[in-house]
Amino acid sequence: MTKLKMGIIGAGKIAQVLHAPNIHKSKFAELIAITDVDESRLLKFKEDYPYINTYTDYKKMLAEEELDAVSVCVSNNFHAAVSIDALNSGKNVLVEKPMATSSAEASDMIKVSKDQNKVLMVDHLQRFFPHHQKAKEIVSAGILGEIRAVKAMFGHAGPENWSPTASWFFQRQKSAFGSLADLGIHKIDIIRYVTGLEFQKCVALTNTLEKHADVEDIAMGIFQLSNGALAEITASWVTHGLEENYLIIYGSSGTMKVGSVYSNQIDIYLEKPVKFHGKIELKPLFTNEDEYWNLPIIDHFAKVCLGEEKPIVTAEDGLVALNIIEKMLIAEREDKIVELSK
Ligand SMILES: NC(=O)c1ccc[n+]([C@@H]2O[C@H](COP(=O)([O-])OP(=O)(O)OC[C@H]3O[C@@H](n4cnc5c(N)ncnc54)[C@H](O)[C@@H]3O)[C@@H](O)[C@H]2O)c1
Repeated sequence: MTKLKMGIIGAGKIAQVLHAPNIHKSKFAELIAITDVDESRLLKFKEDYPYINTYTDYKKMLAEEELDAVSVCVSNNFHAAVSIDALNSGKNVLVEKPMATSSAEASDMIKVSKDQNKVLMVDHLQRFFPHHQKAKEIVSAGILGEIRAVKAMFGHAGPENWSPTASWFFQRQKSAFGSLADLGIHKIDIIRYVTGLEFQKCVALTNTLEKHADVEDIAMGIFQLSNGALAEITASWVTHGLEENYLIIYGSSGTMKVGSVYSNQIDIYLEKPVKFHGKIELKPLFTNEDEYWNLPIIDHFAKVCLGEEKPIVTAEDGLVALNIIEKMLIAEREDKIVELSK
């Protein structure tokens, strides 16, 4: 079978826990090379995958290696430039979220992917959680009736507990956004994916309560969705003692709690024909456990590039989610309700 020859640009934490191991074990992709400006980051990869070639300049890797695709895993400020260089050199691209630091950059990336006829996908990996696949099935089957309200939260104690080089997450110049683009964007995307509804209007508040950062460490938004239902999201780096990673959907026939009662469970409460509370037990949602990262995103990306599957998440989905967080910040700054375009 033809395997997609892949390189990774950015040998940090997400490359280490998600991209490299999932490419390594994929039947549809193979890991050829990796780049990081910081040579010390490459040592770990060379130890774990002795067969890969390492580079400190991604342009050299793009020029010298025969790659079909790359994972772009650098800090947010380089997502657009690196992805565009990779697309222009004929590679398909799986870029980490947020796909760029602005909608304008994201639109440029999409244009180049179309001009070059290459796949551009964004790693909105929560779409690949079994929980969310099941939740989408339940909503699509109409079991909850019409959606009336949605609540979602992603919160933990901050990225400094995640990566040794996480300080860039706190610098607007490198990250562009704080907890909103790190965590909130996942929940915005998952609400669109599970409900099939679009975001129409928003109000929002953010603050920086604990981190030495010039970006927000907590954000909340309230939205009107395209069927009139209301939604709220919380994105927090100031959640202590536990990790919150949940989605609750209140429908006209019942309620579904995904990961909010227990992280490894979907709870469904229905009113009719009889009062009913059932649960579907799944693997835990906690982000720092290996299990969490064992997701079929790489296999899917490879199959999309090989023309075997249609994308579950597109670059346009990445742009919509990015545009929503930009609009939340406008809503806060201008203290008003902001309309969201698609
Ligand atoms: N999908 C998810 O659930 C998820 C989870 C965590 C992080 N992320 C995203 O992944 C990206 C990387 O985050 P991380 O946690 O791995 O950060 P990290 O700091 O651990 O790693 C980033 C790496 O990129 C390298 N780098 C920076 N600029 C470079 C360049 N121009 N060329 C080559 N290497 C360069 C840095 O030296 C560093 O090793 C971010 O965009 C983040 O938002 C996504």
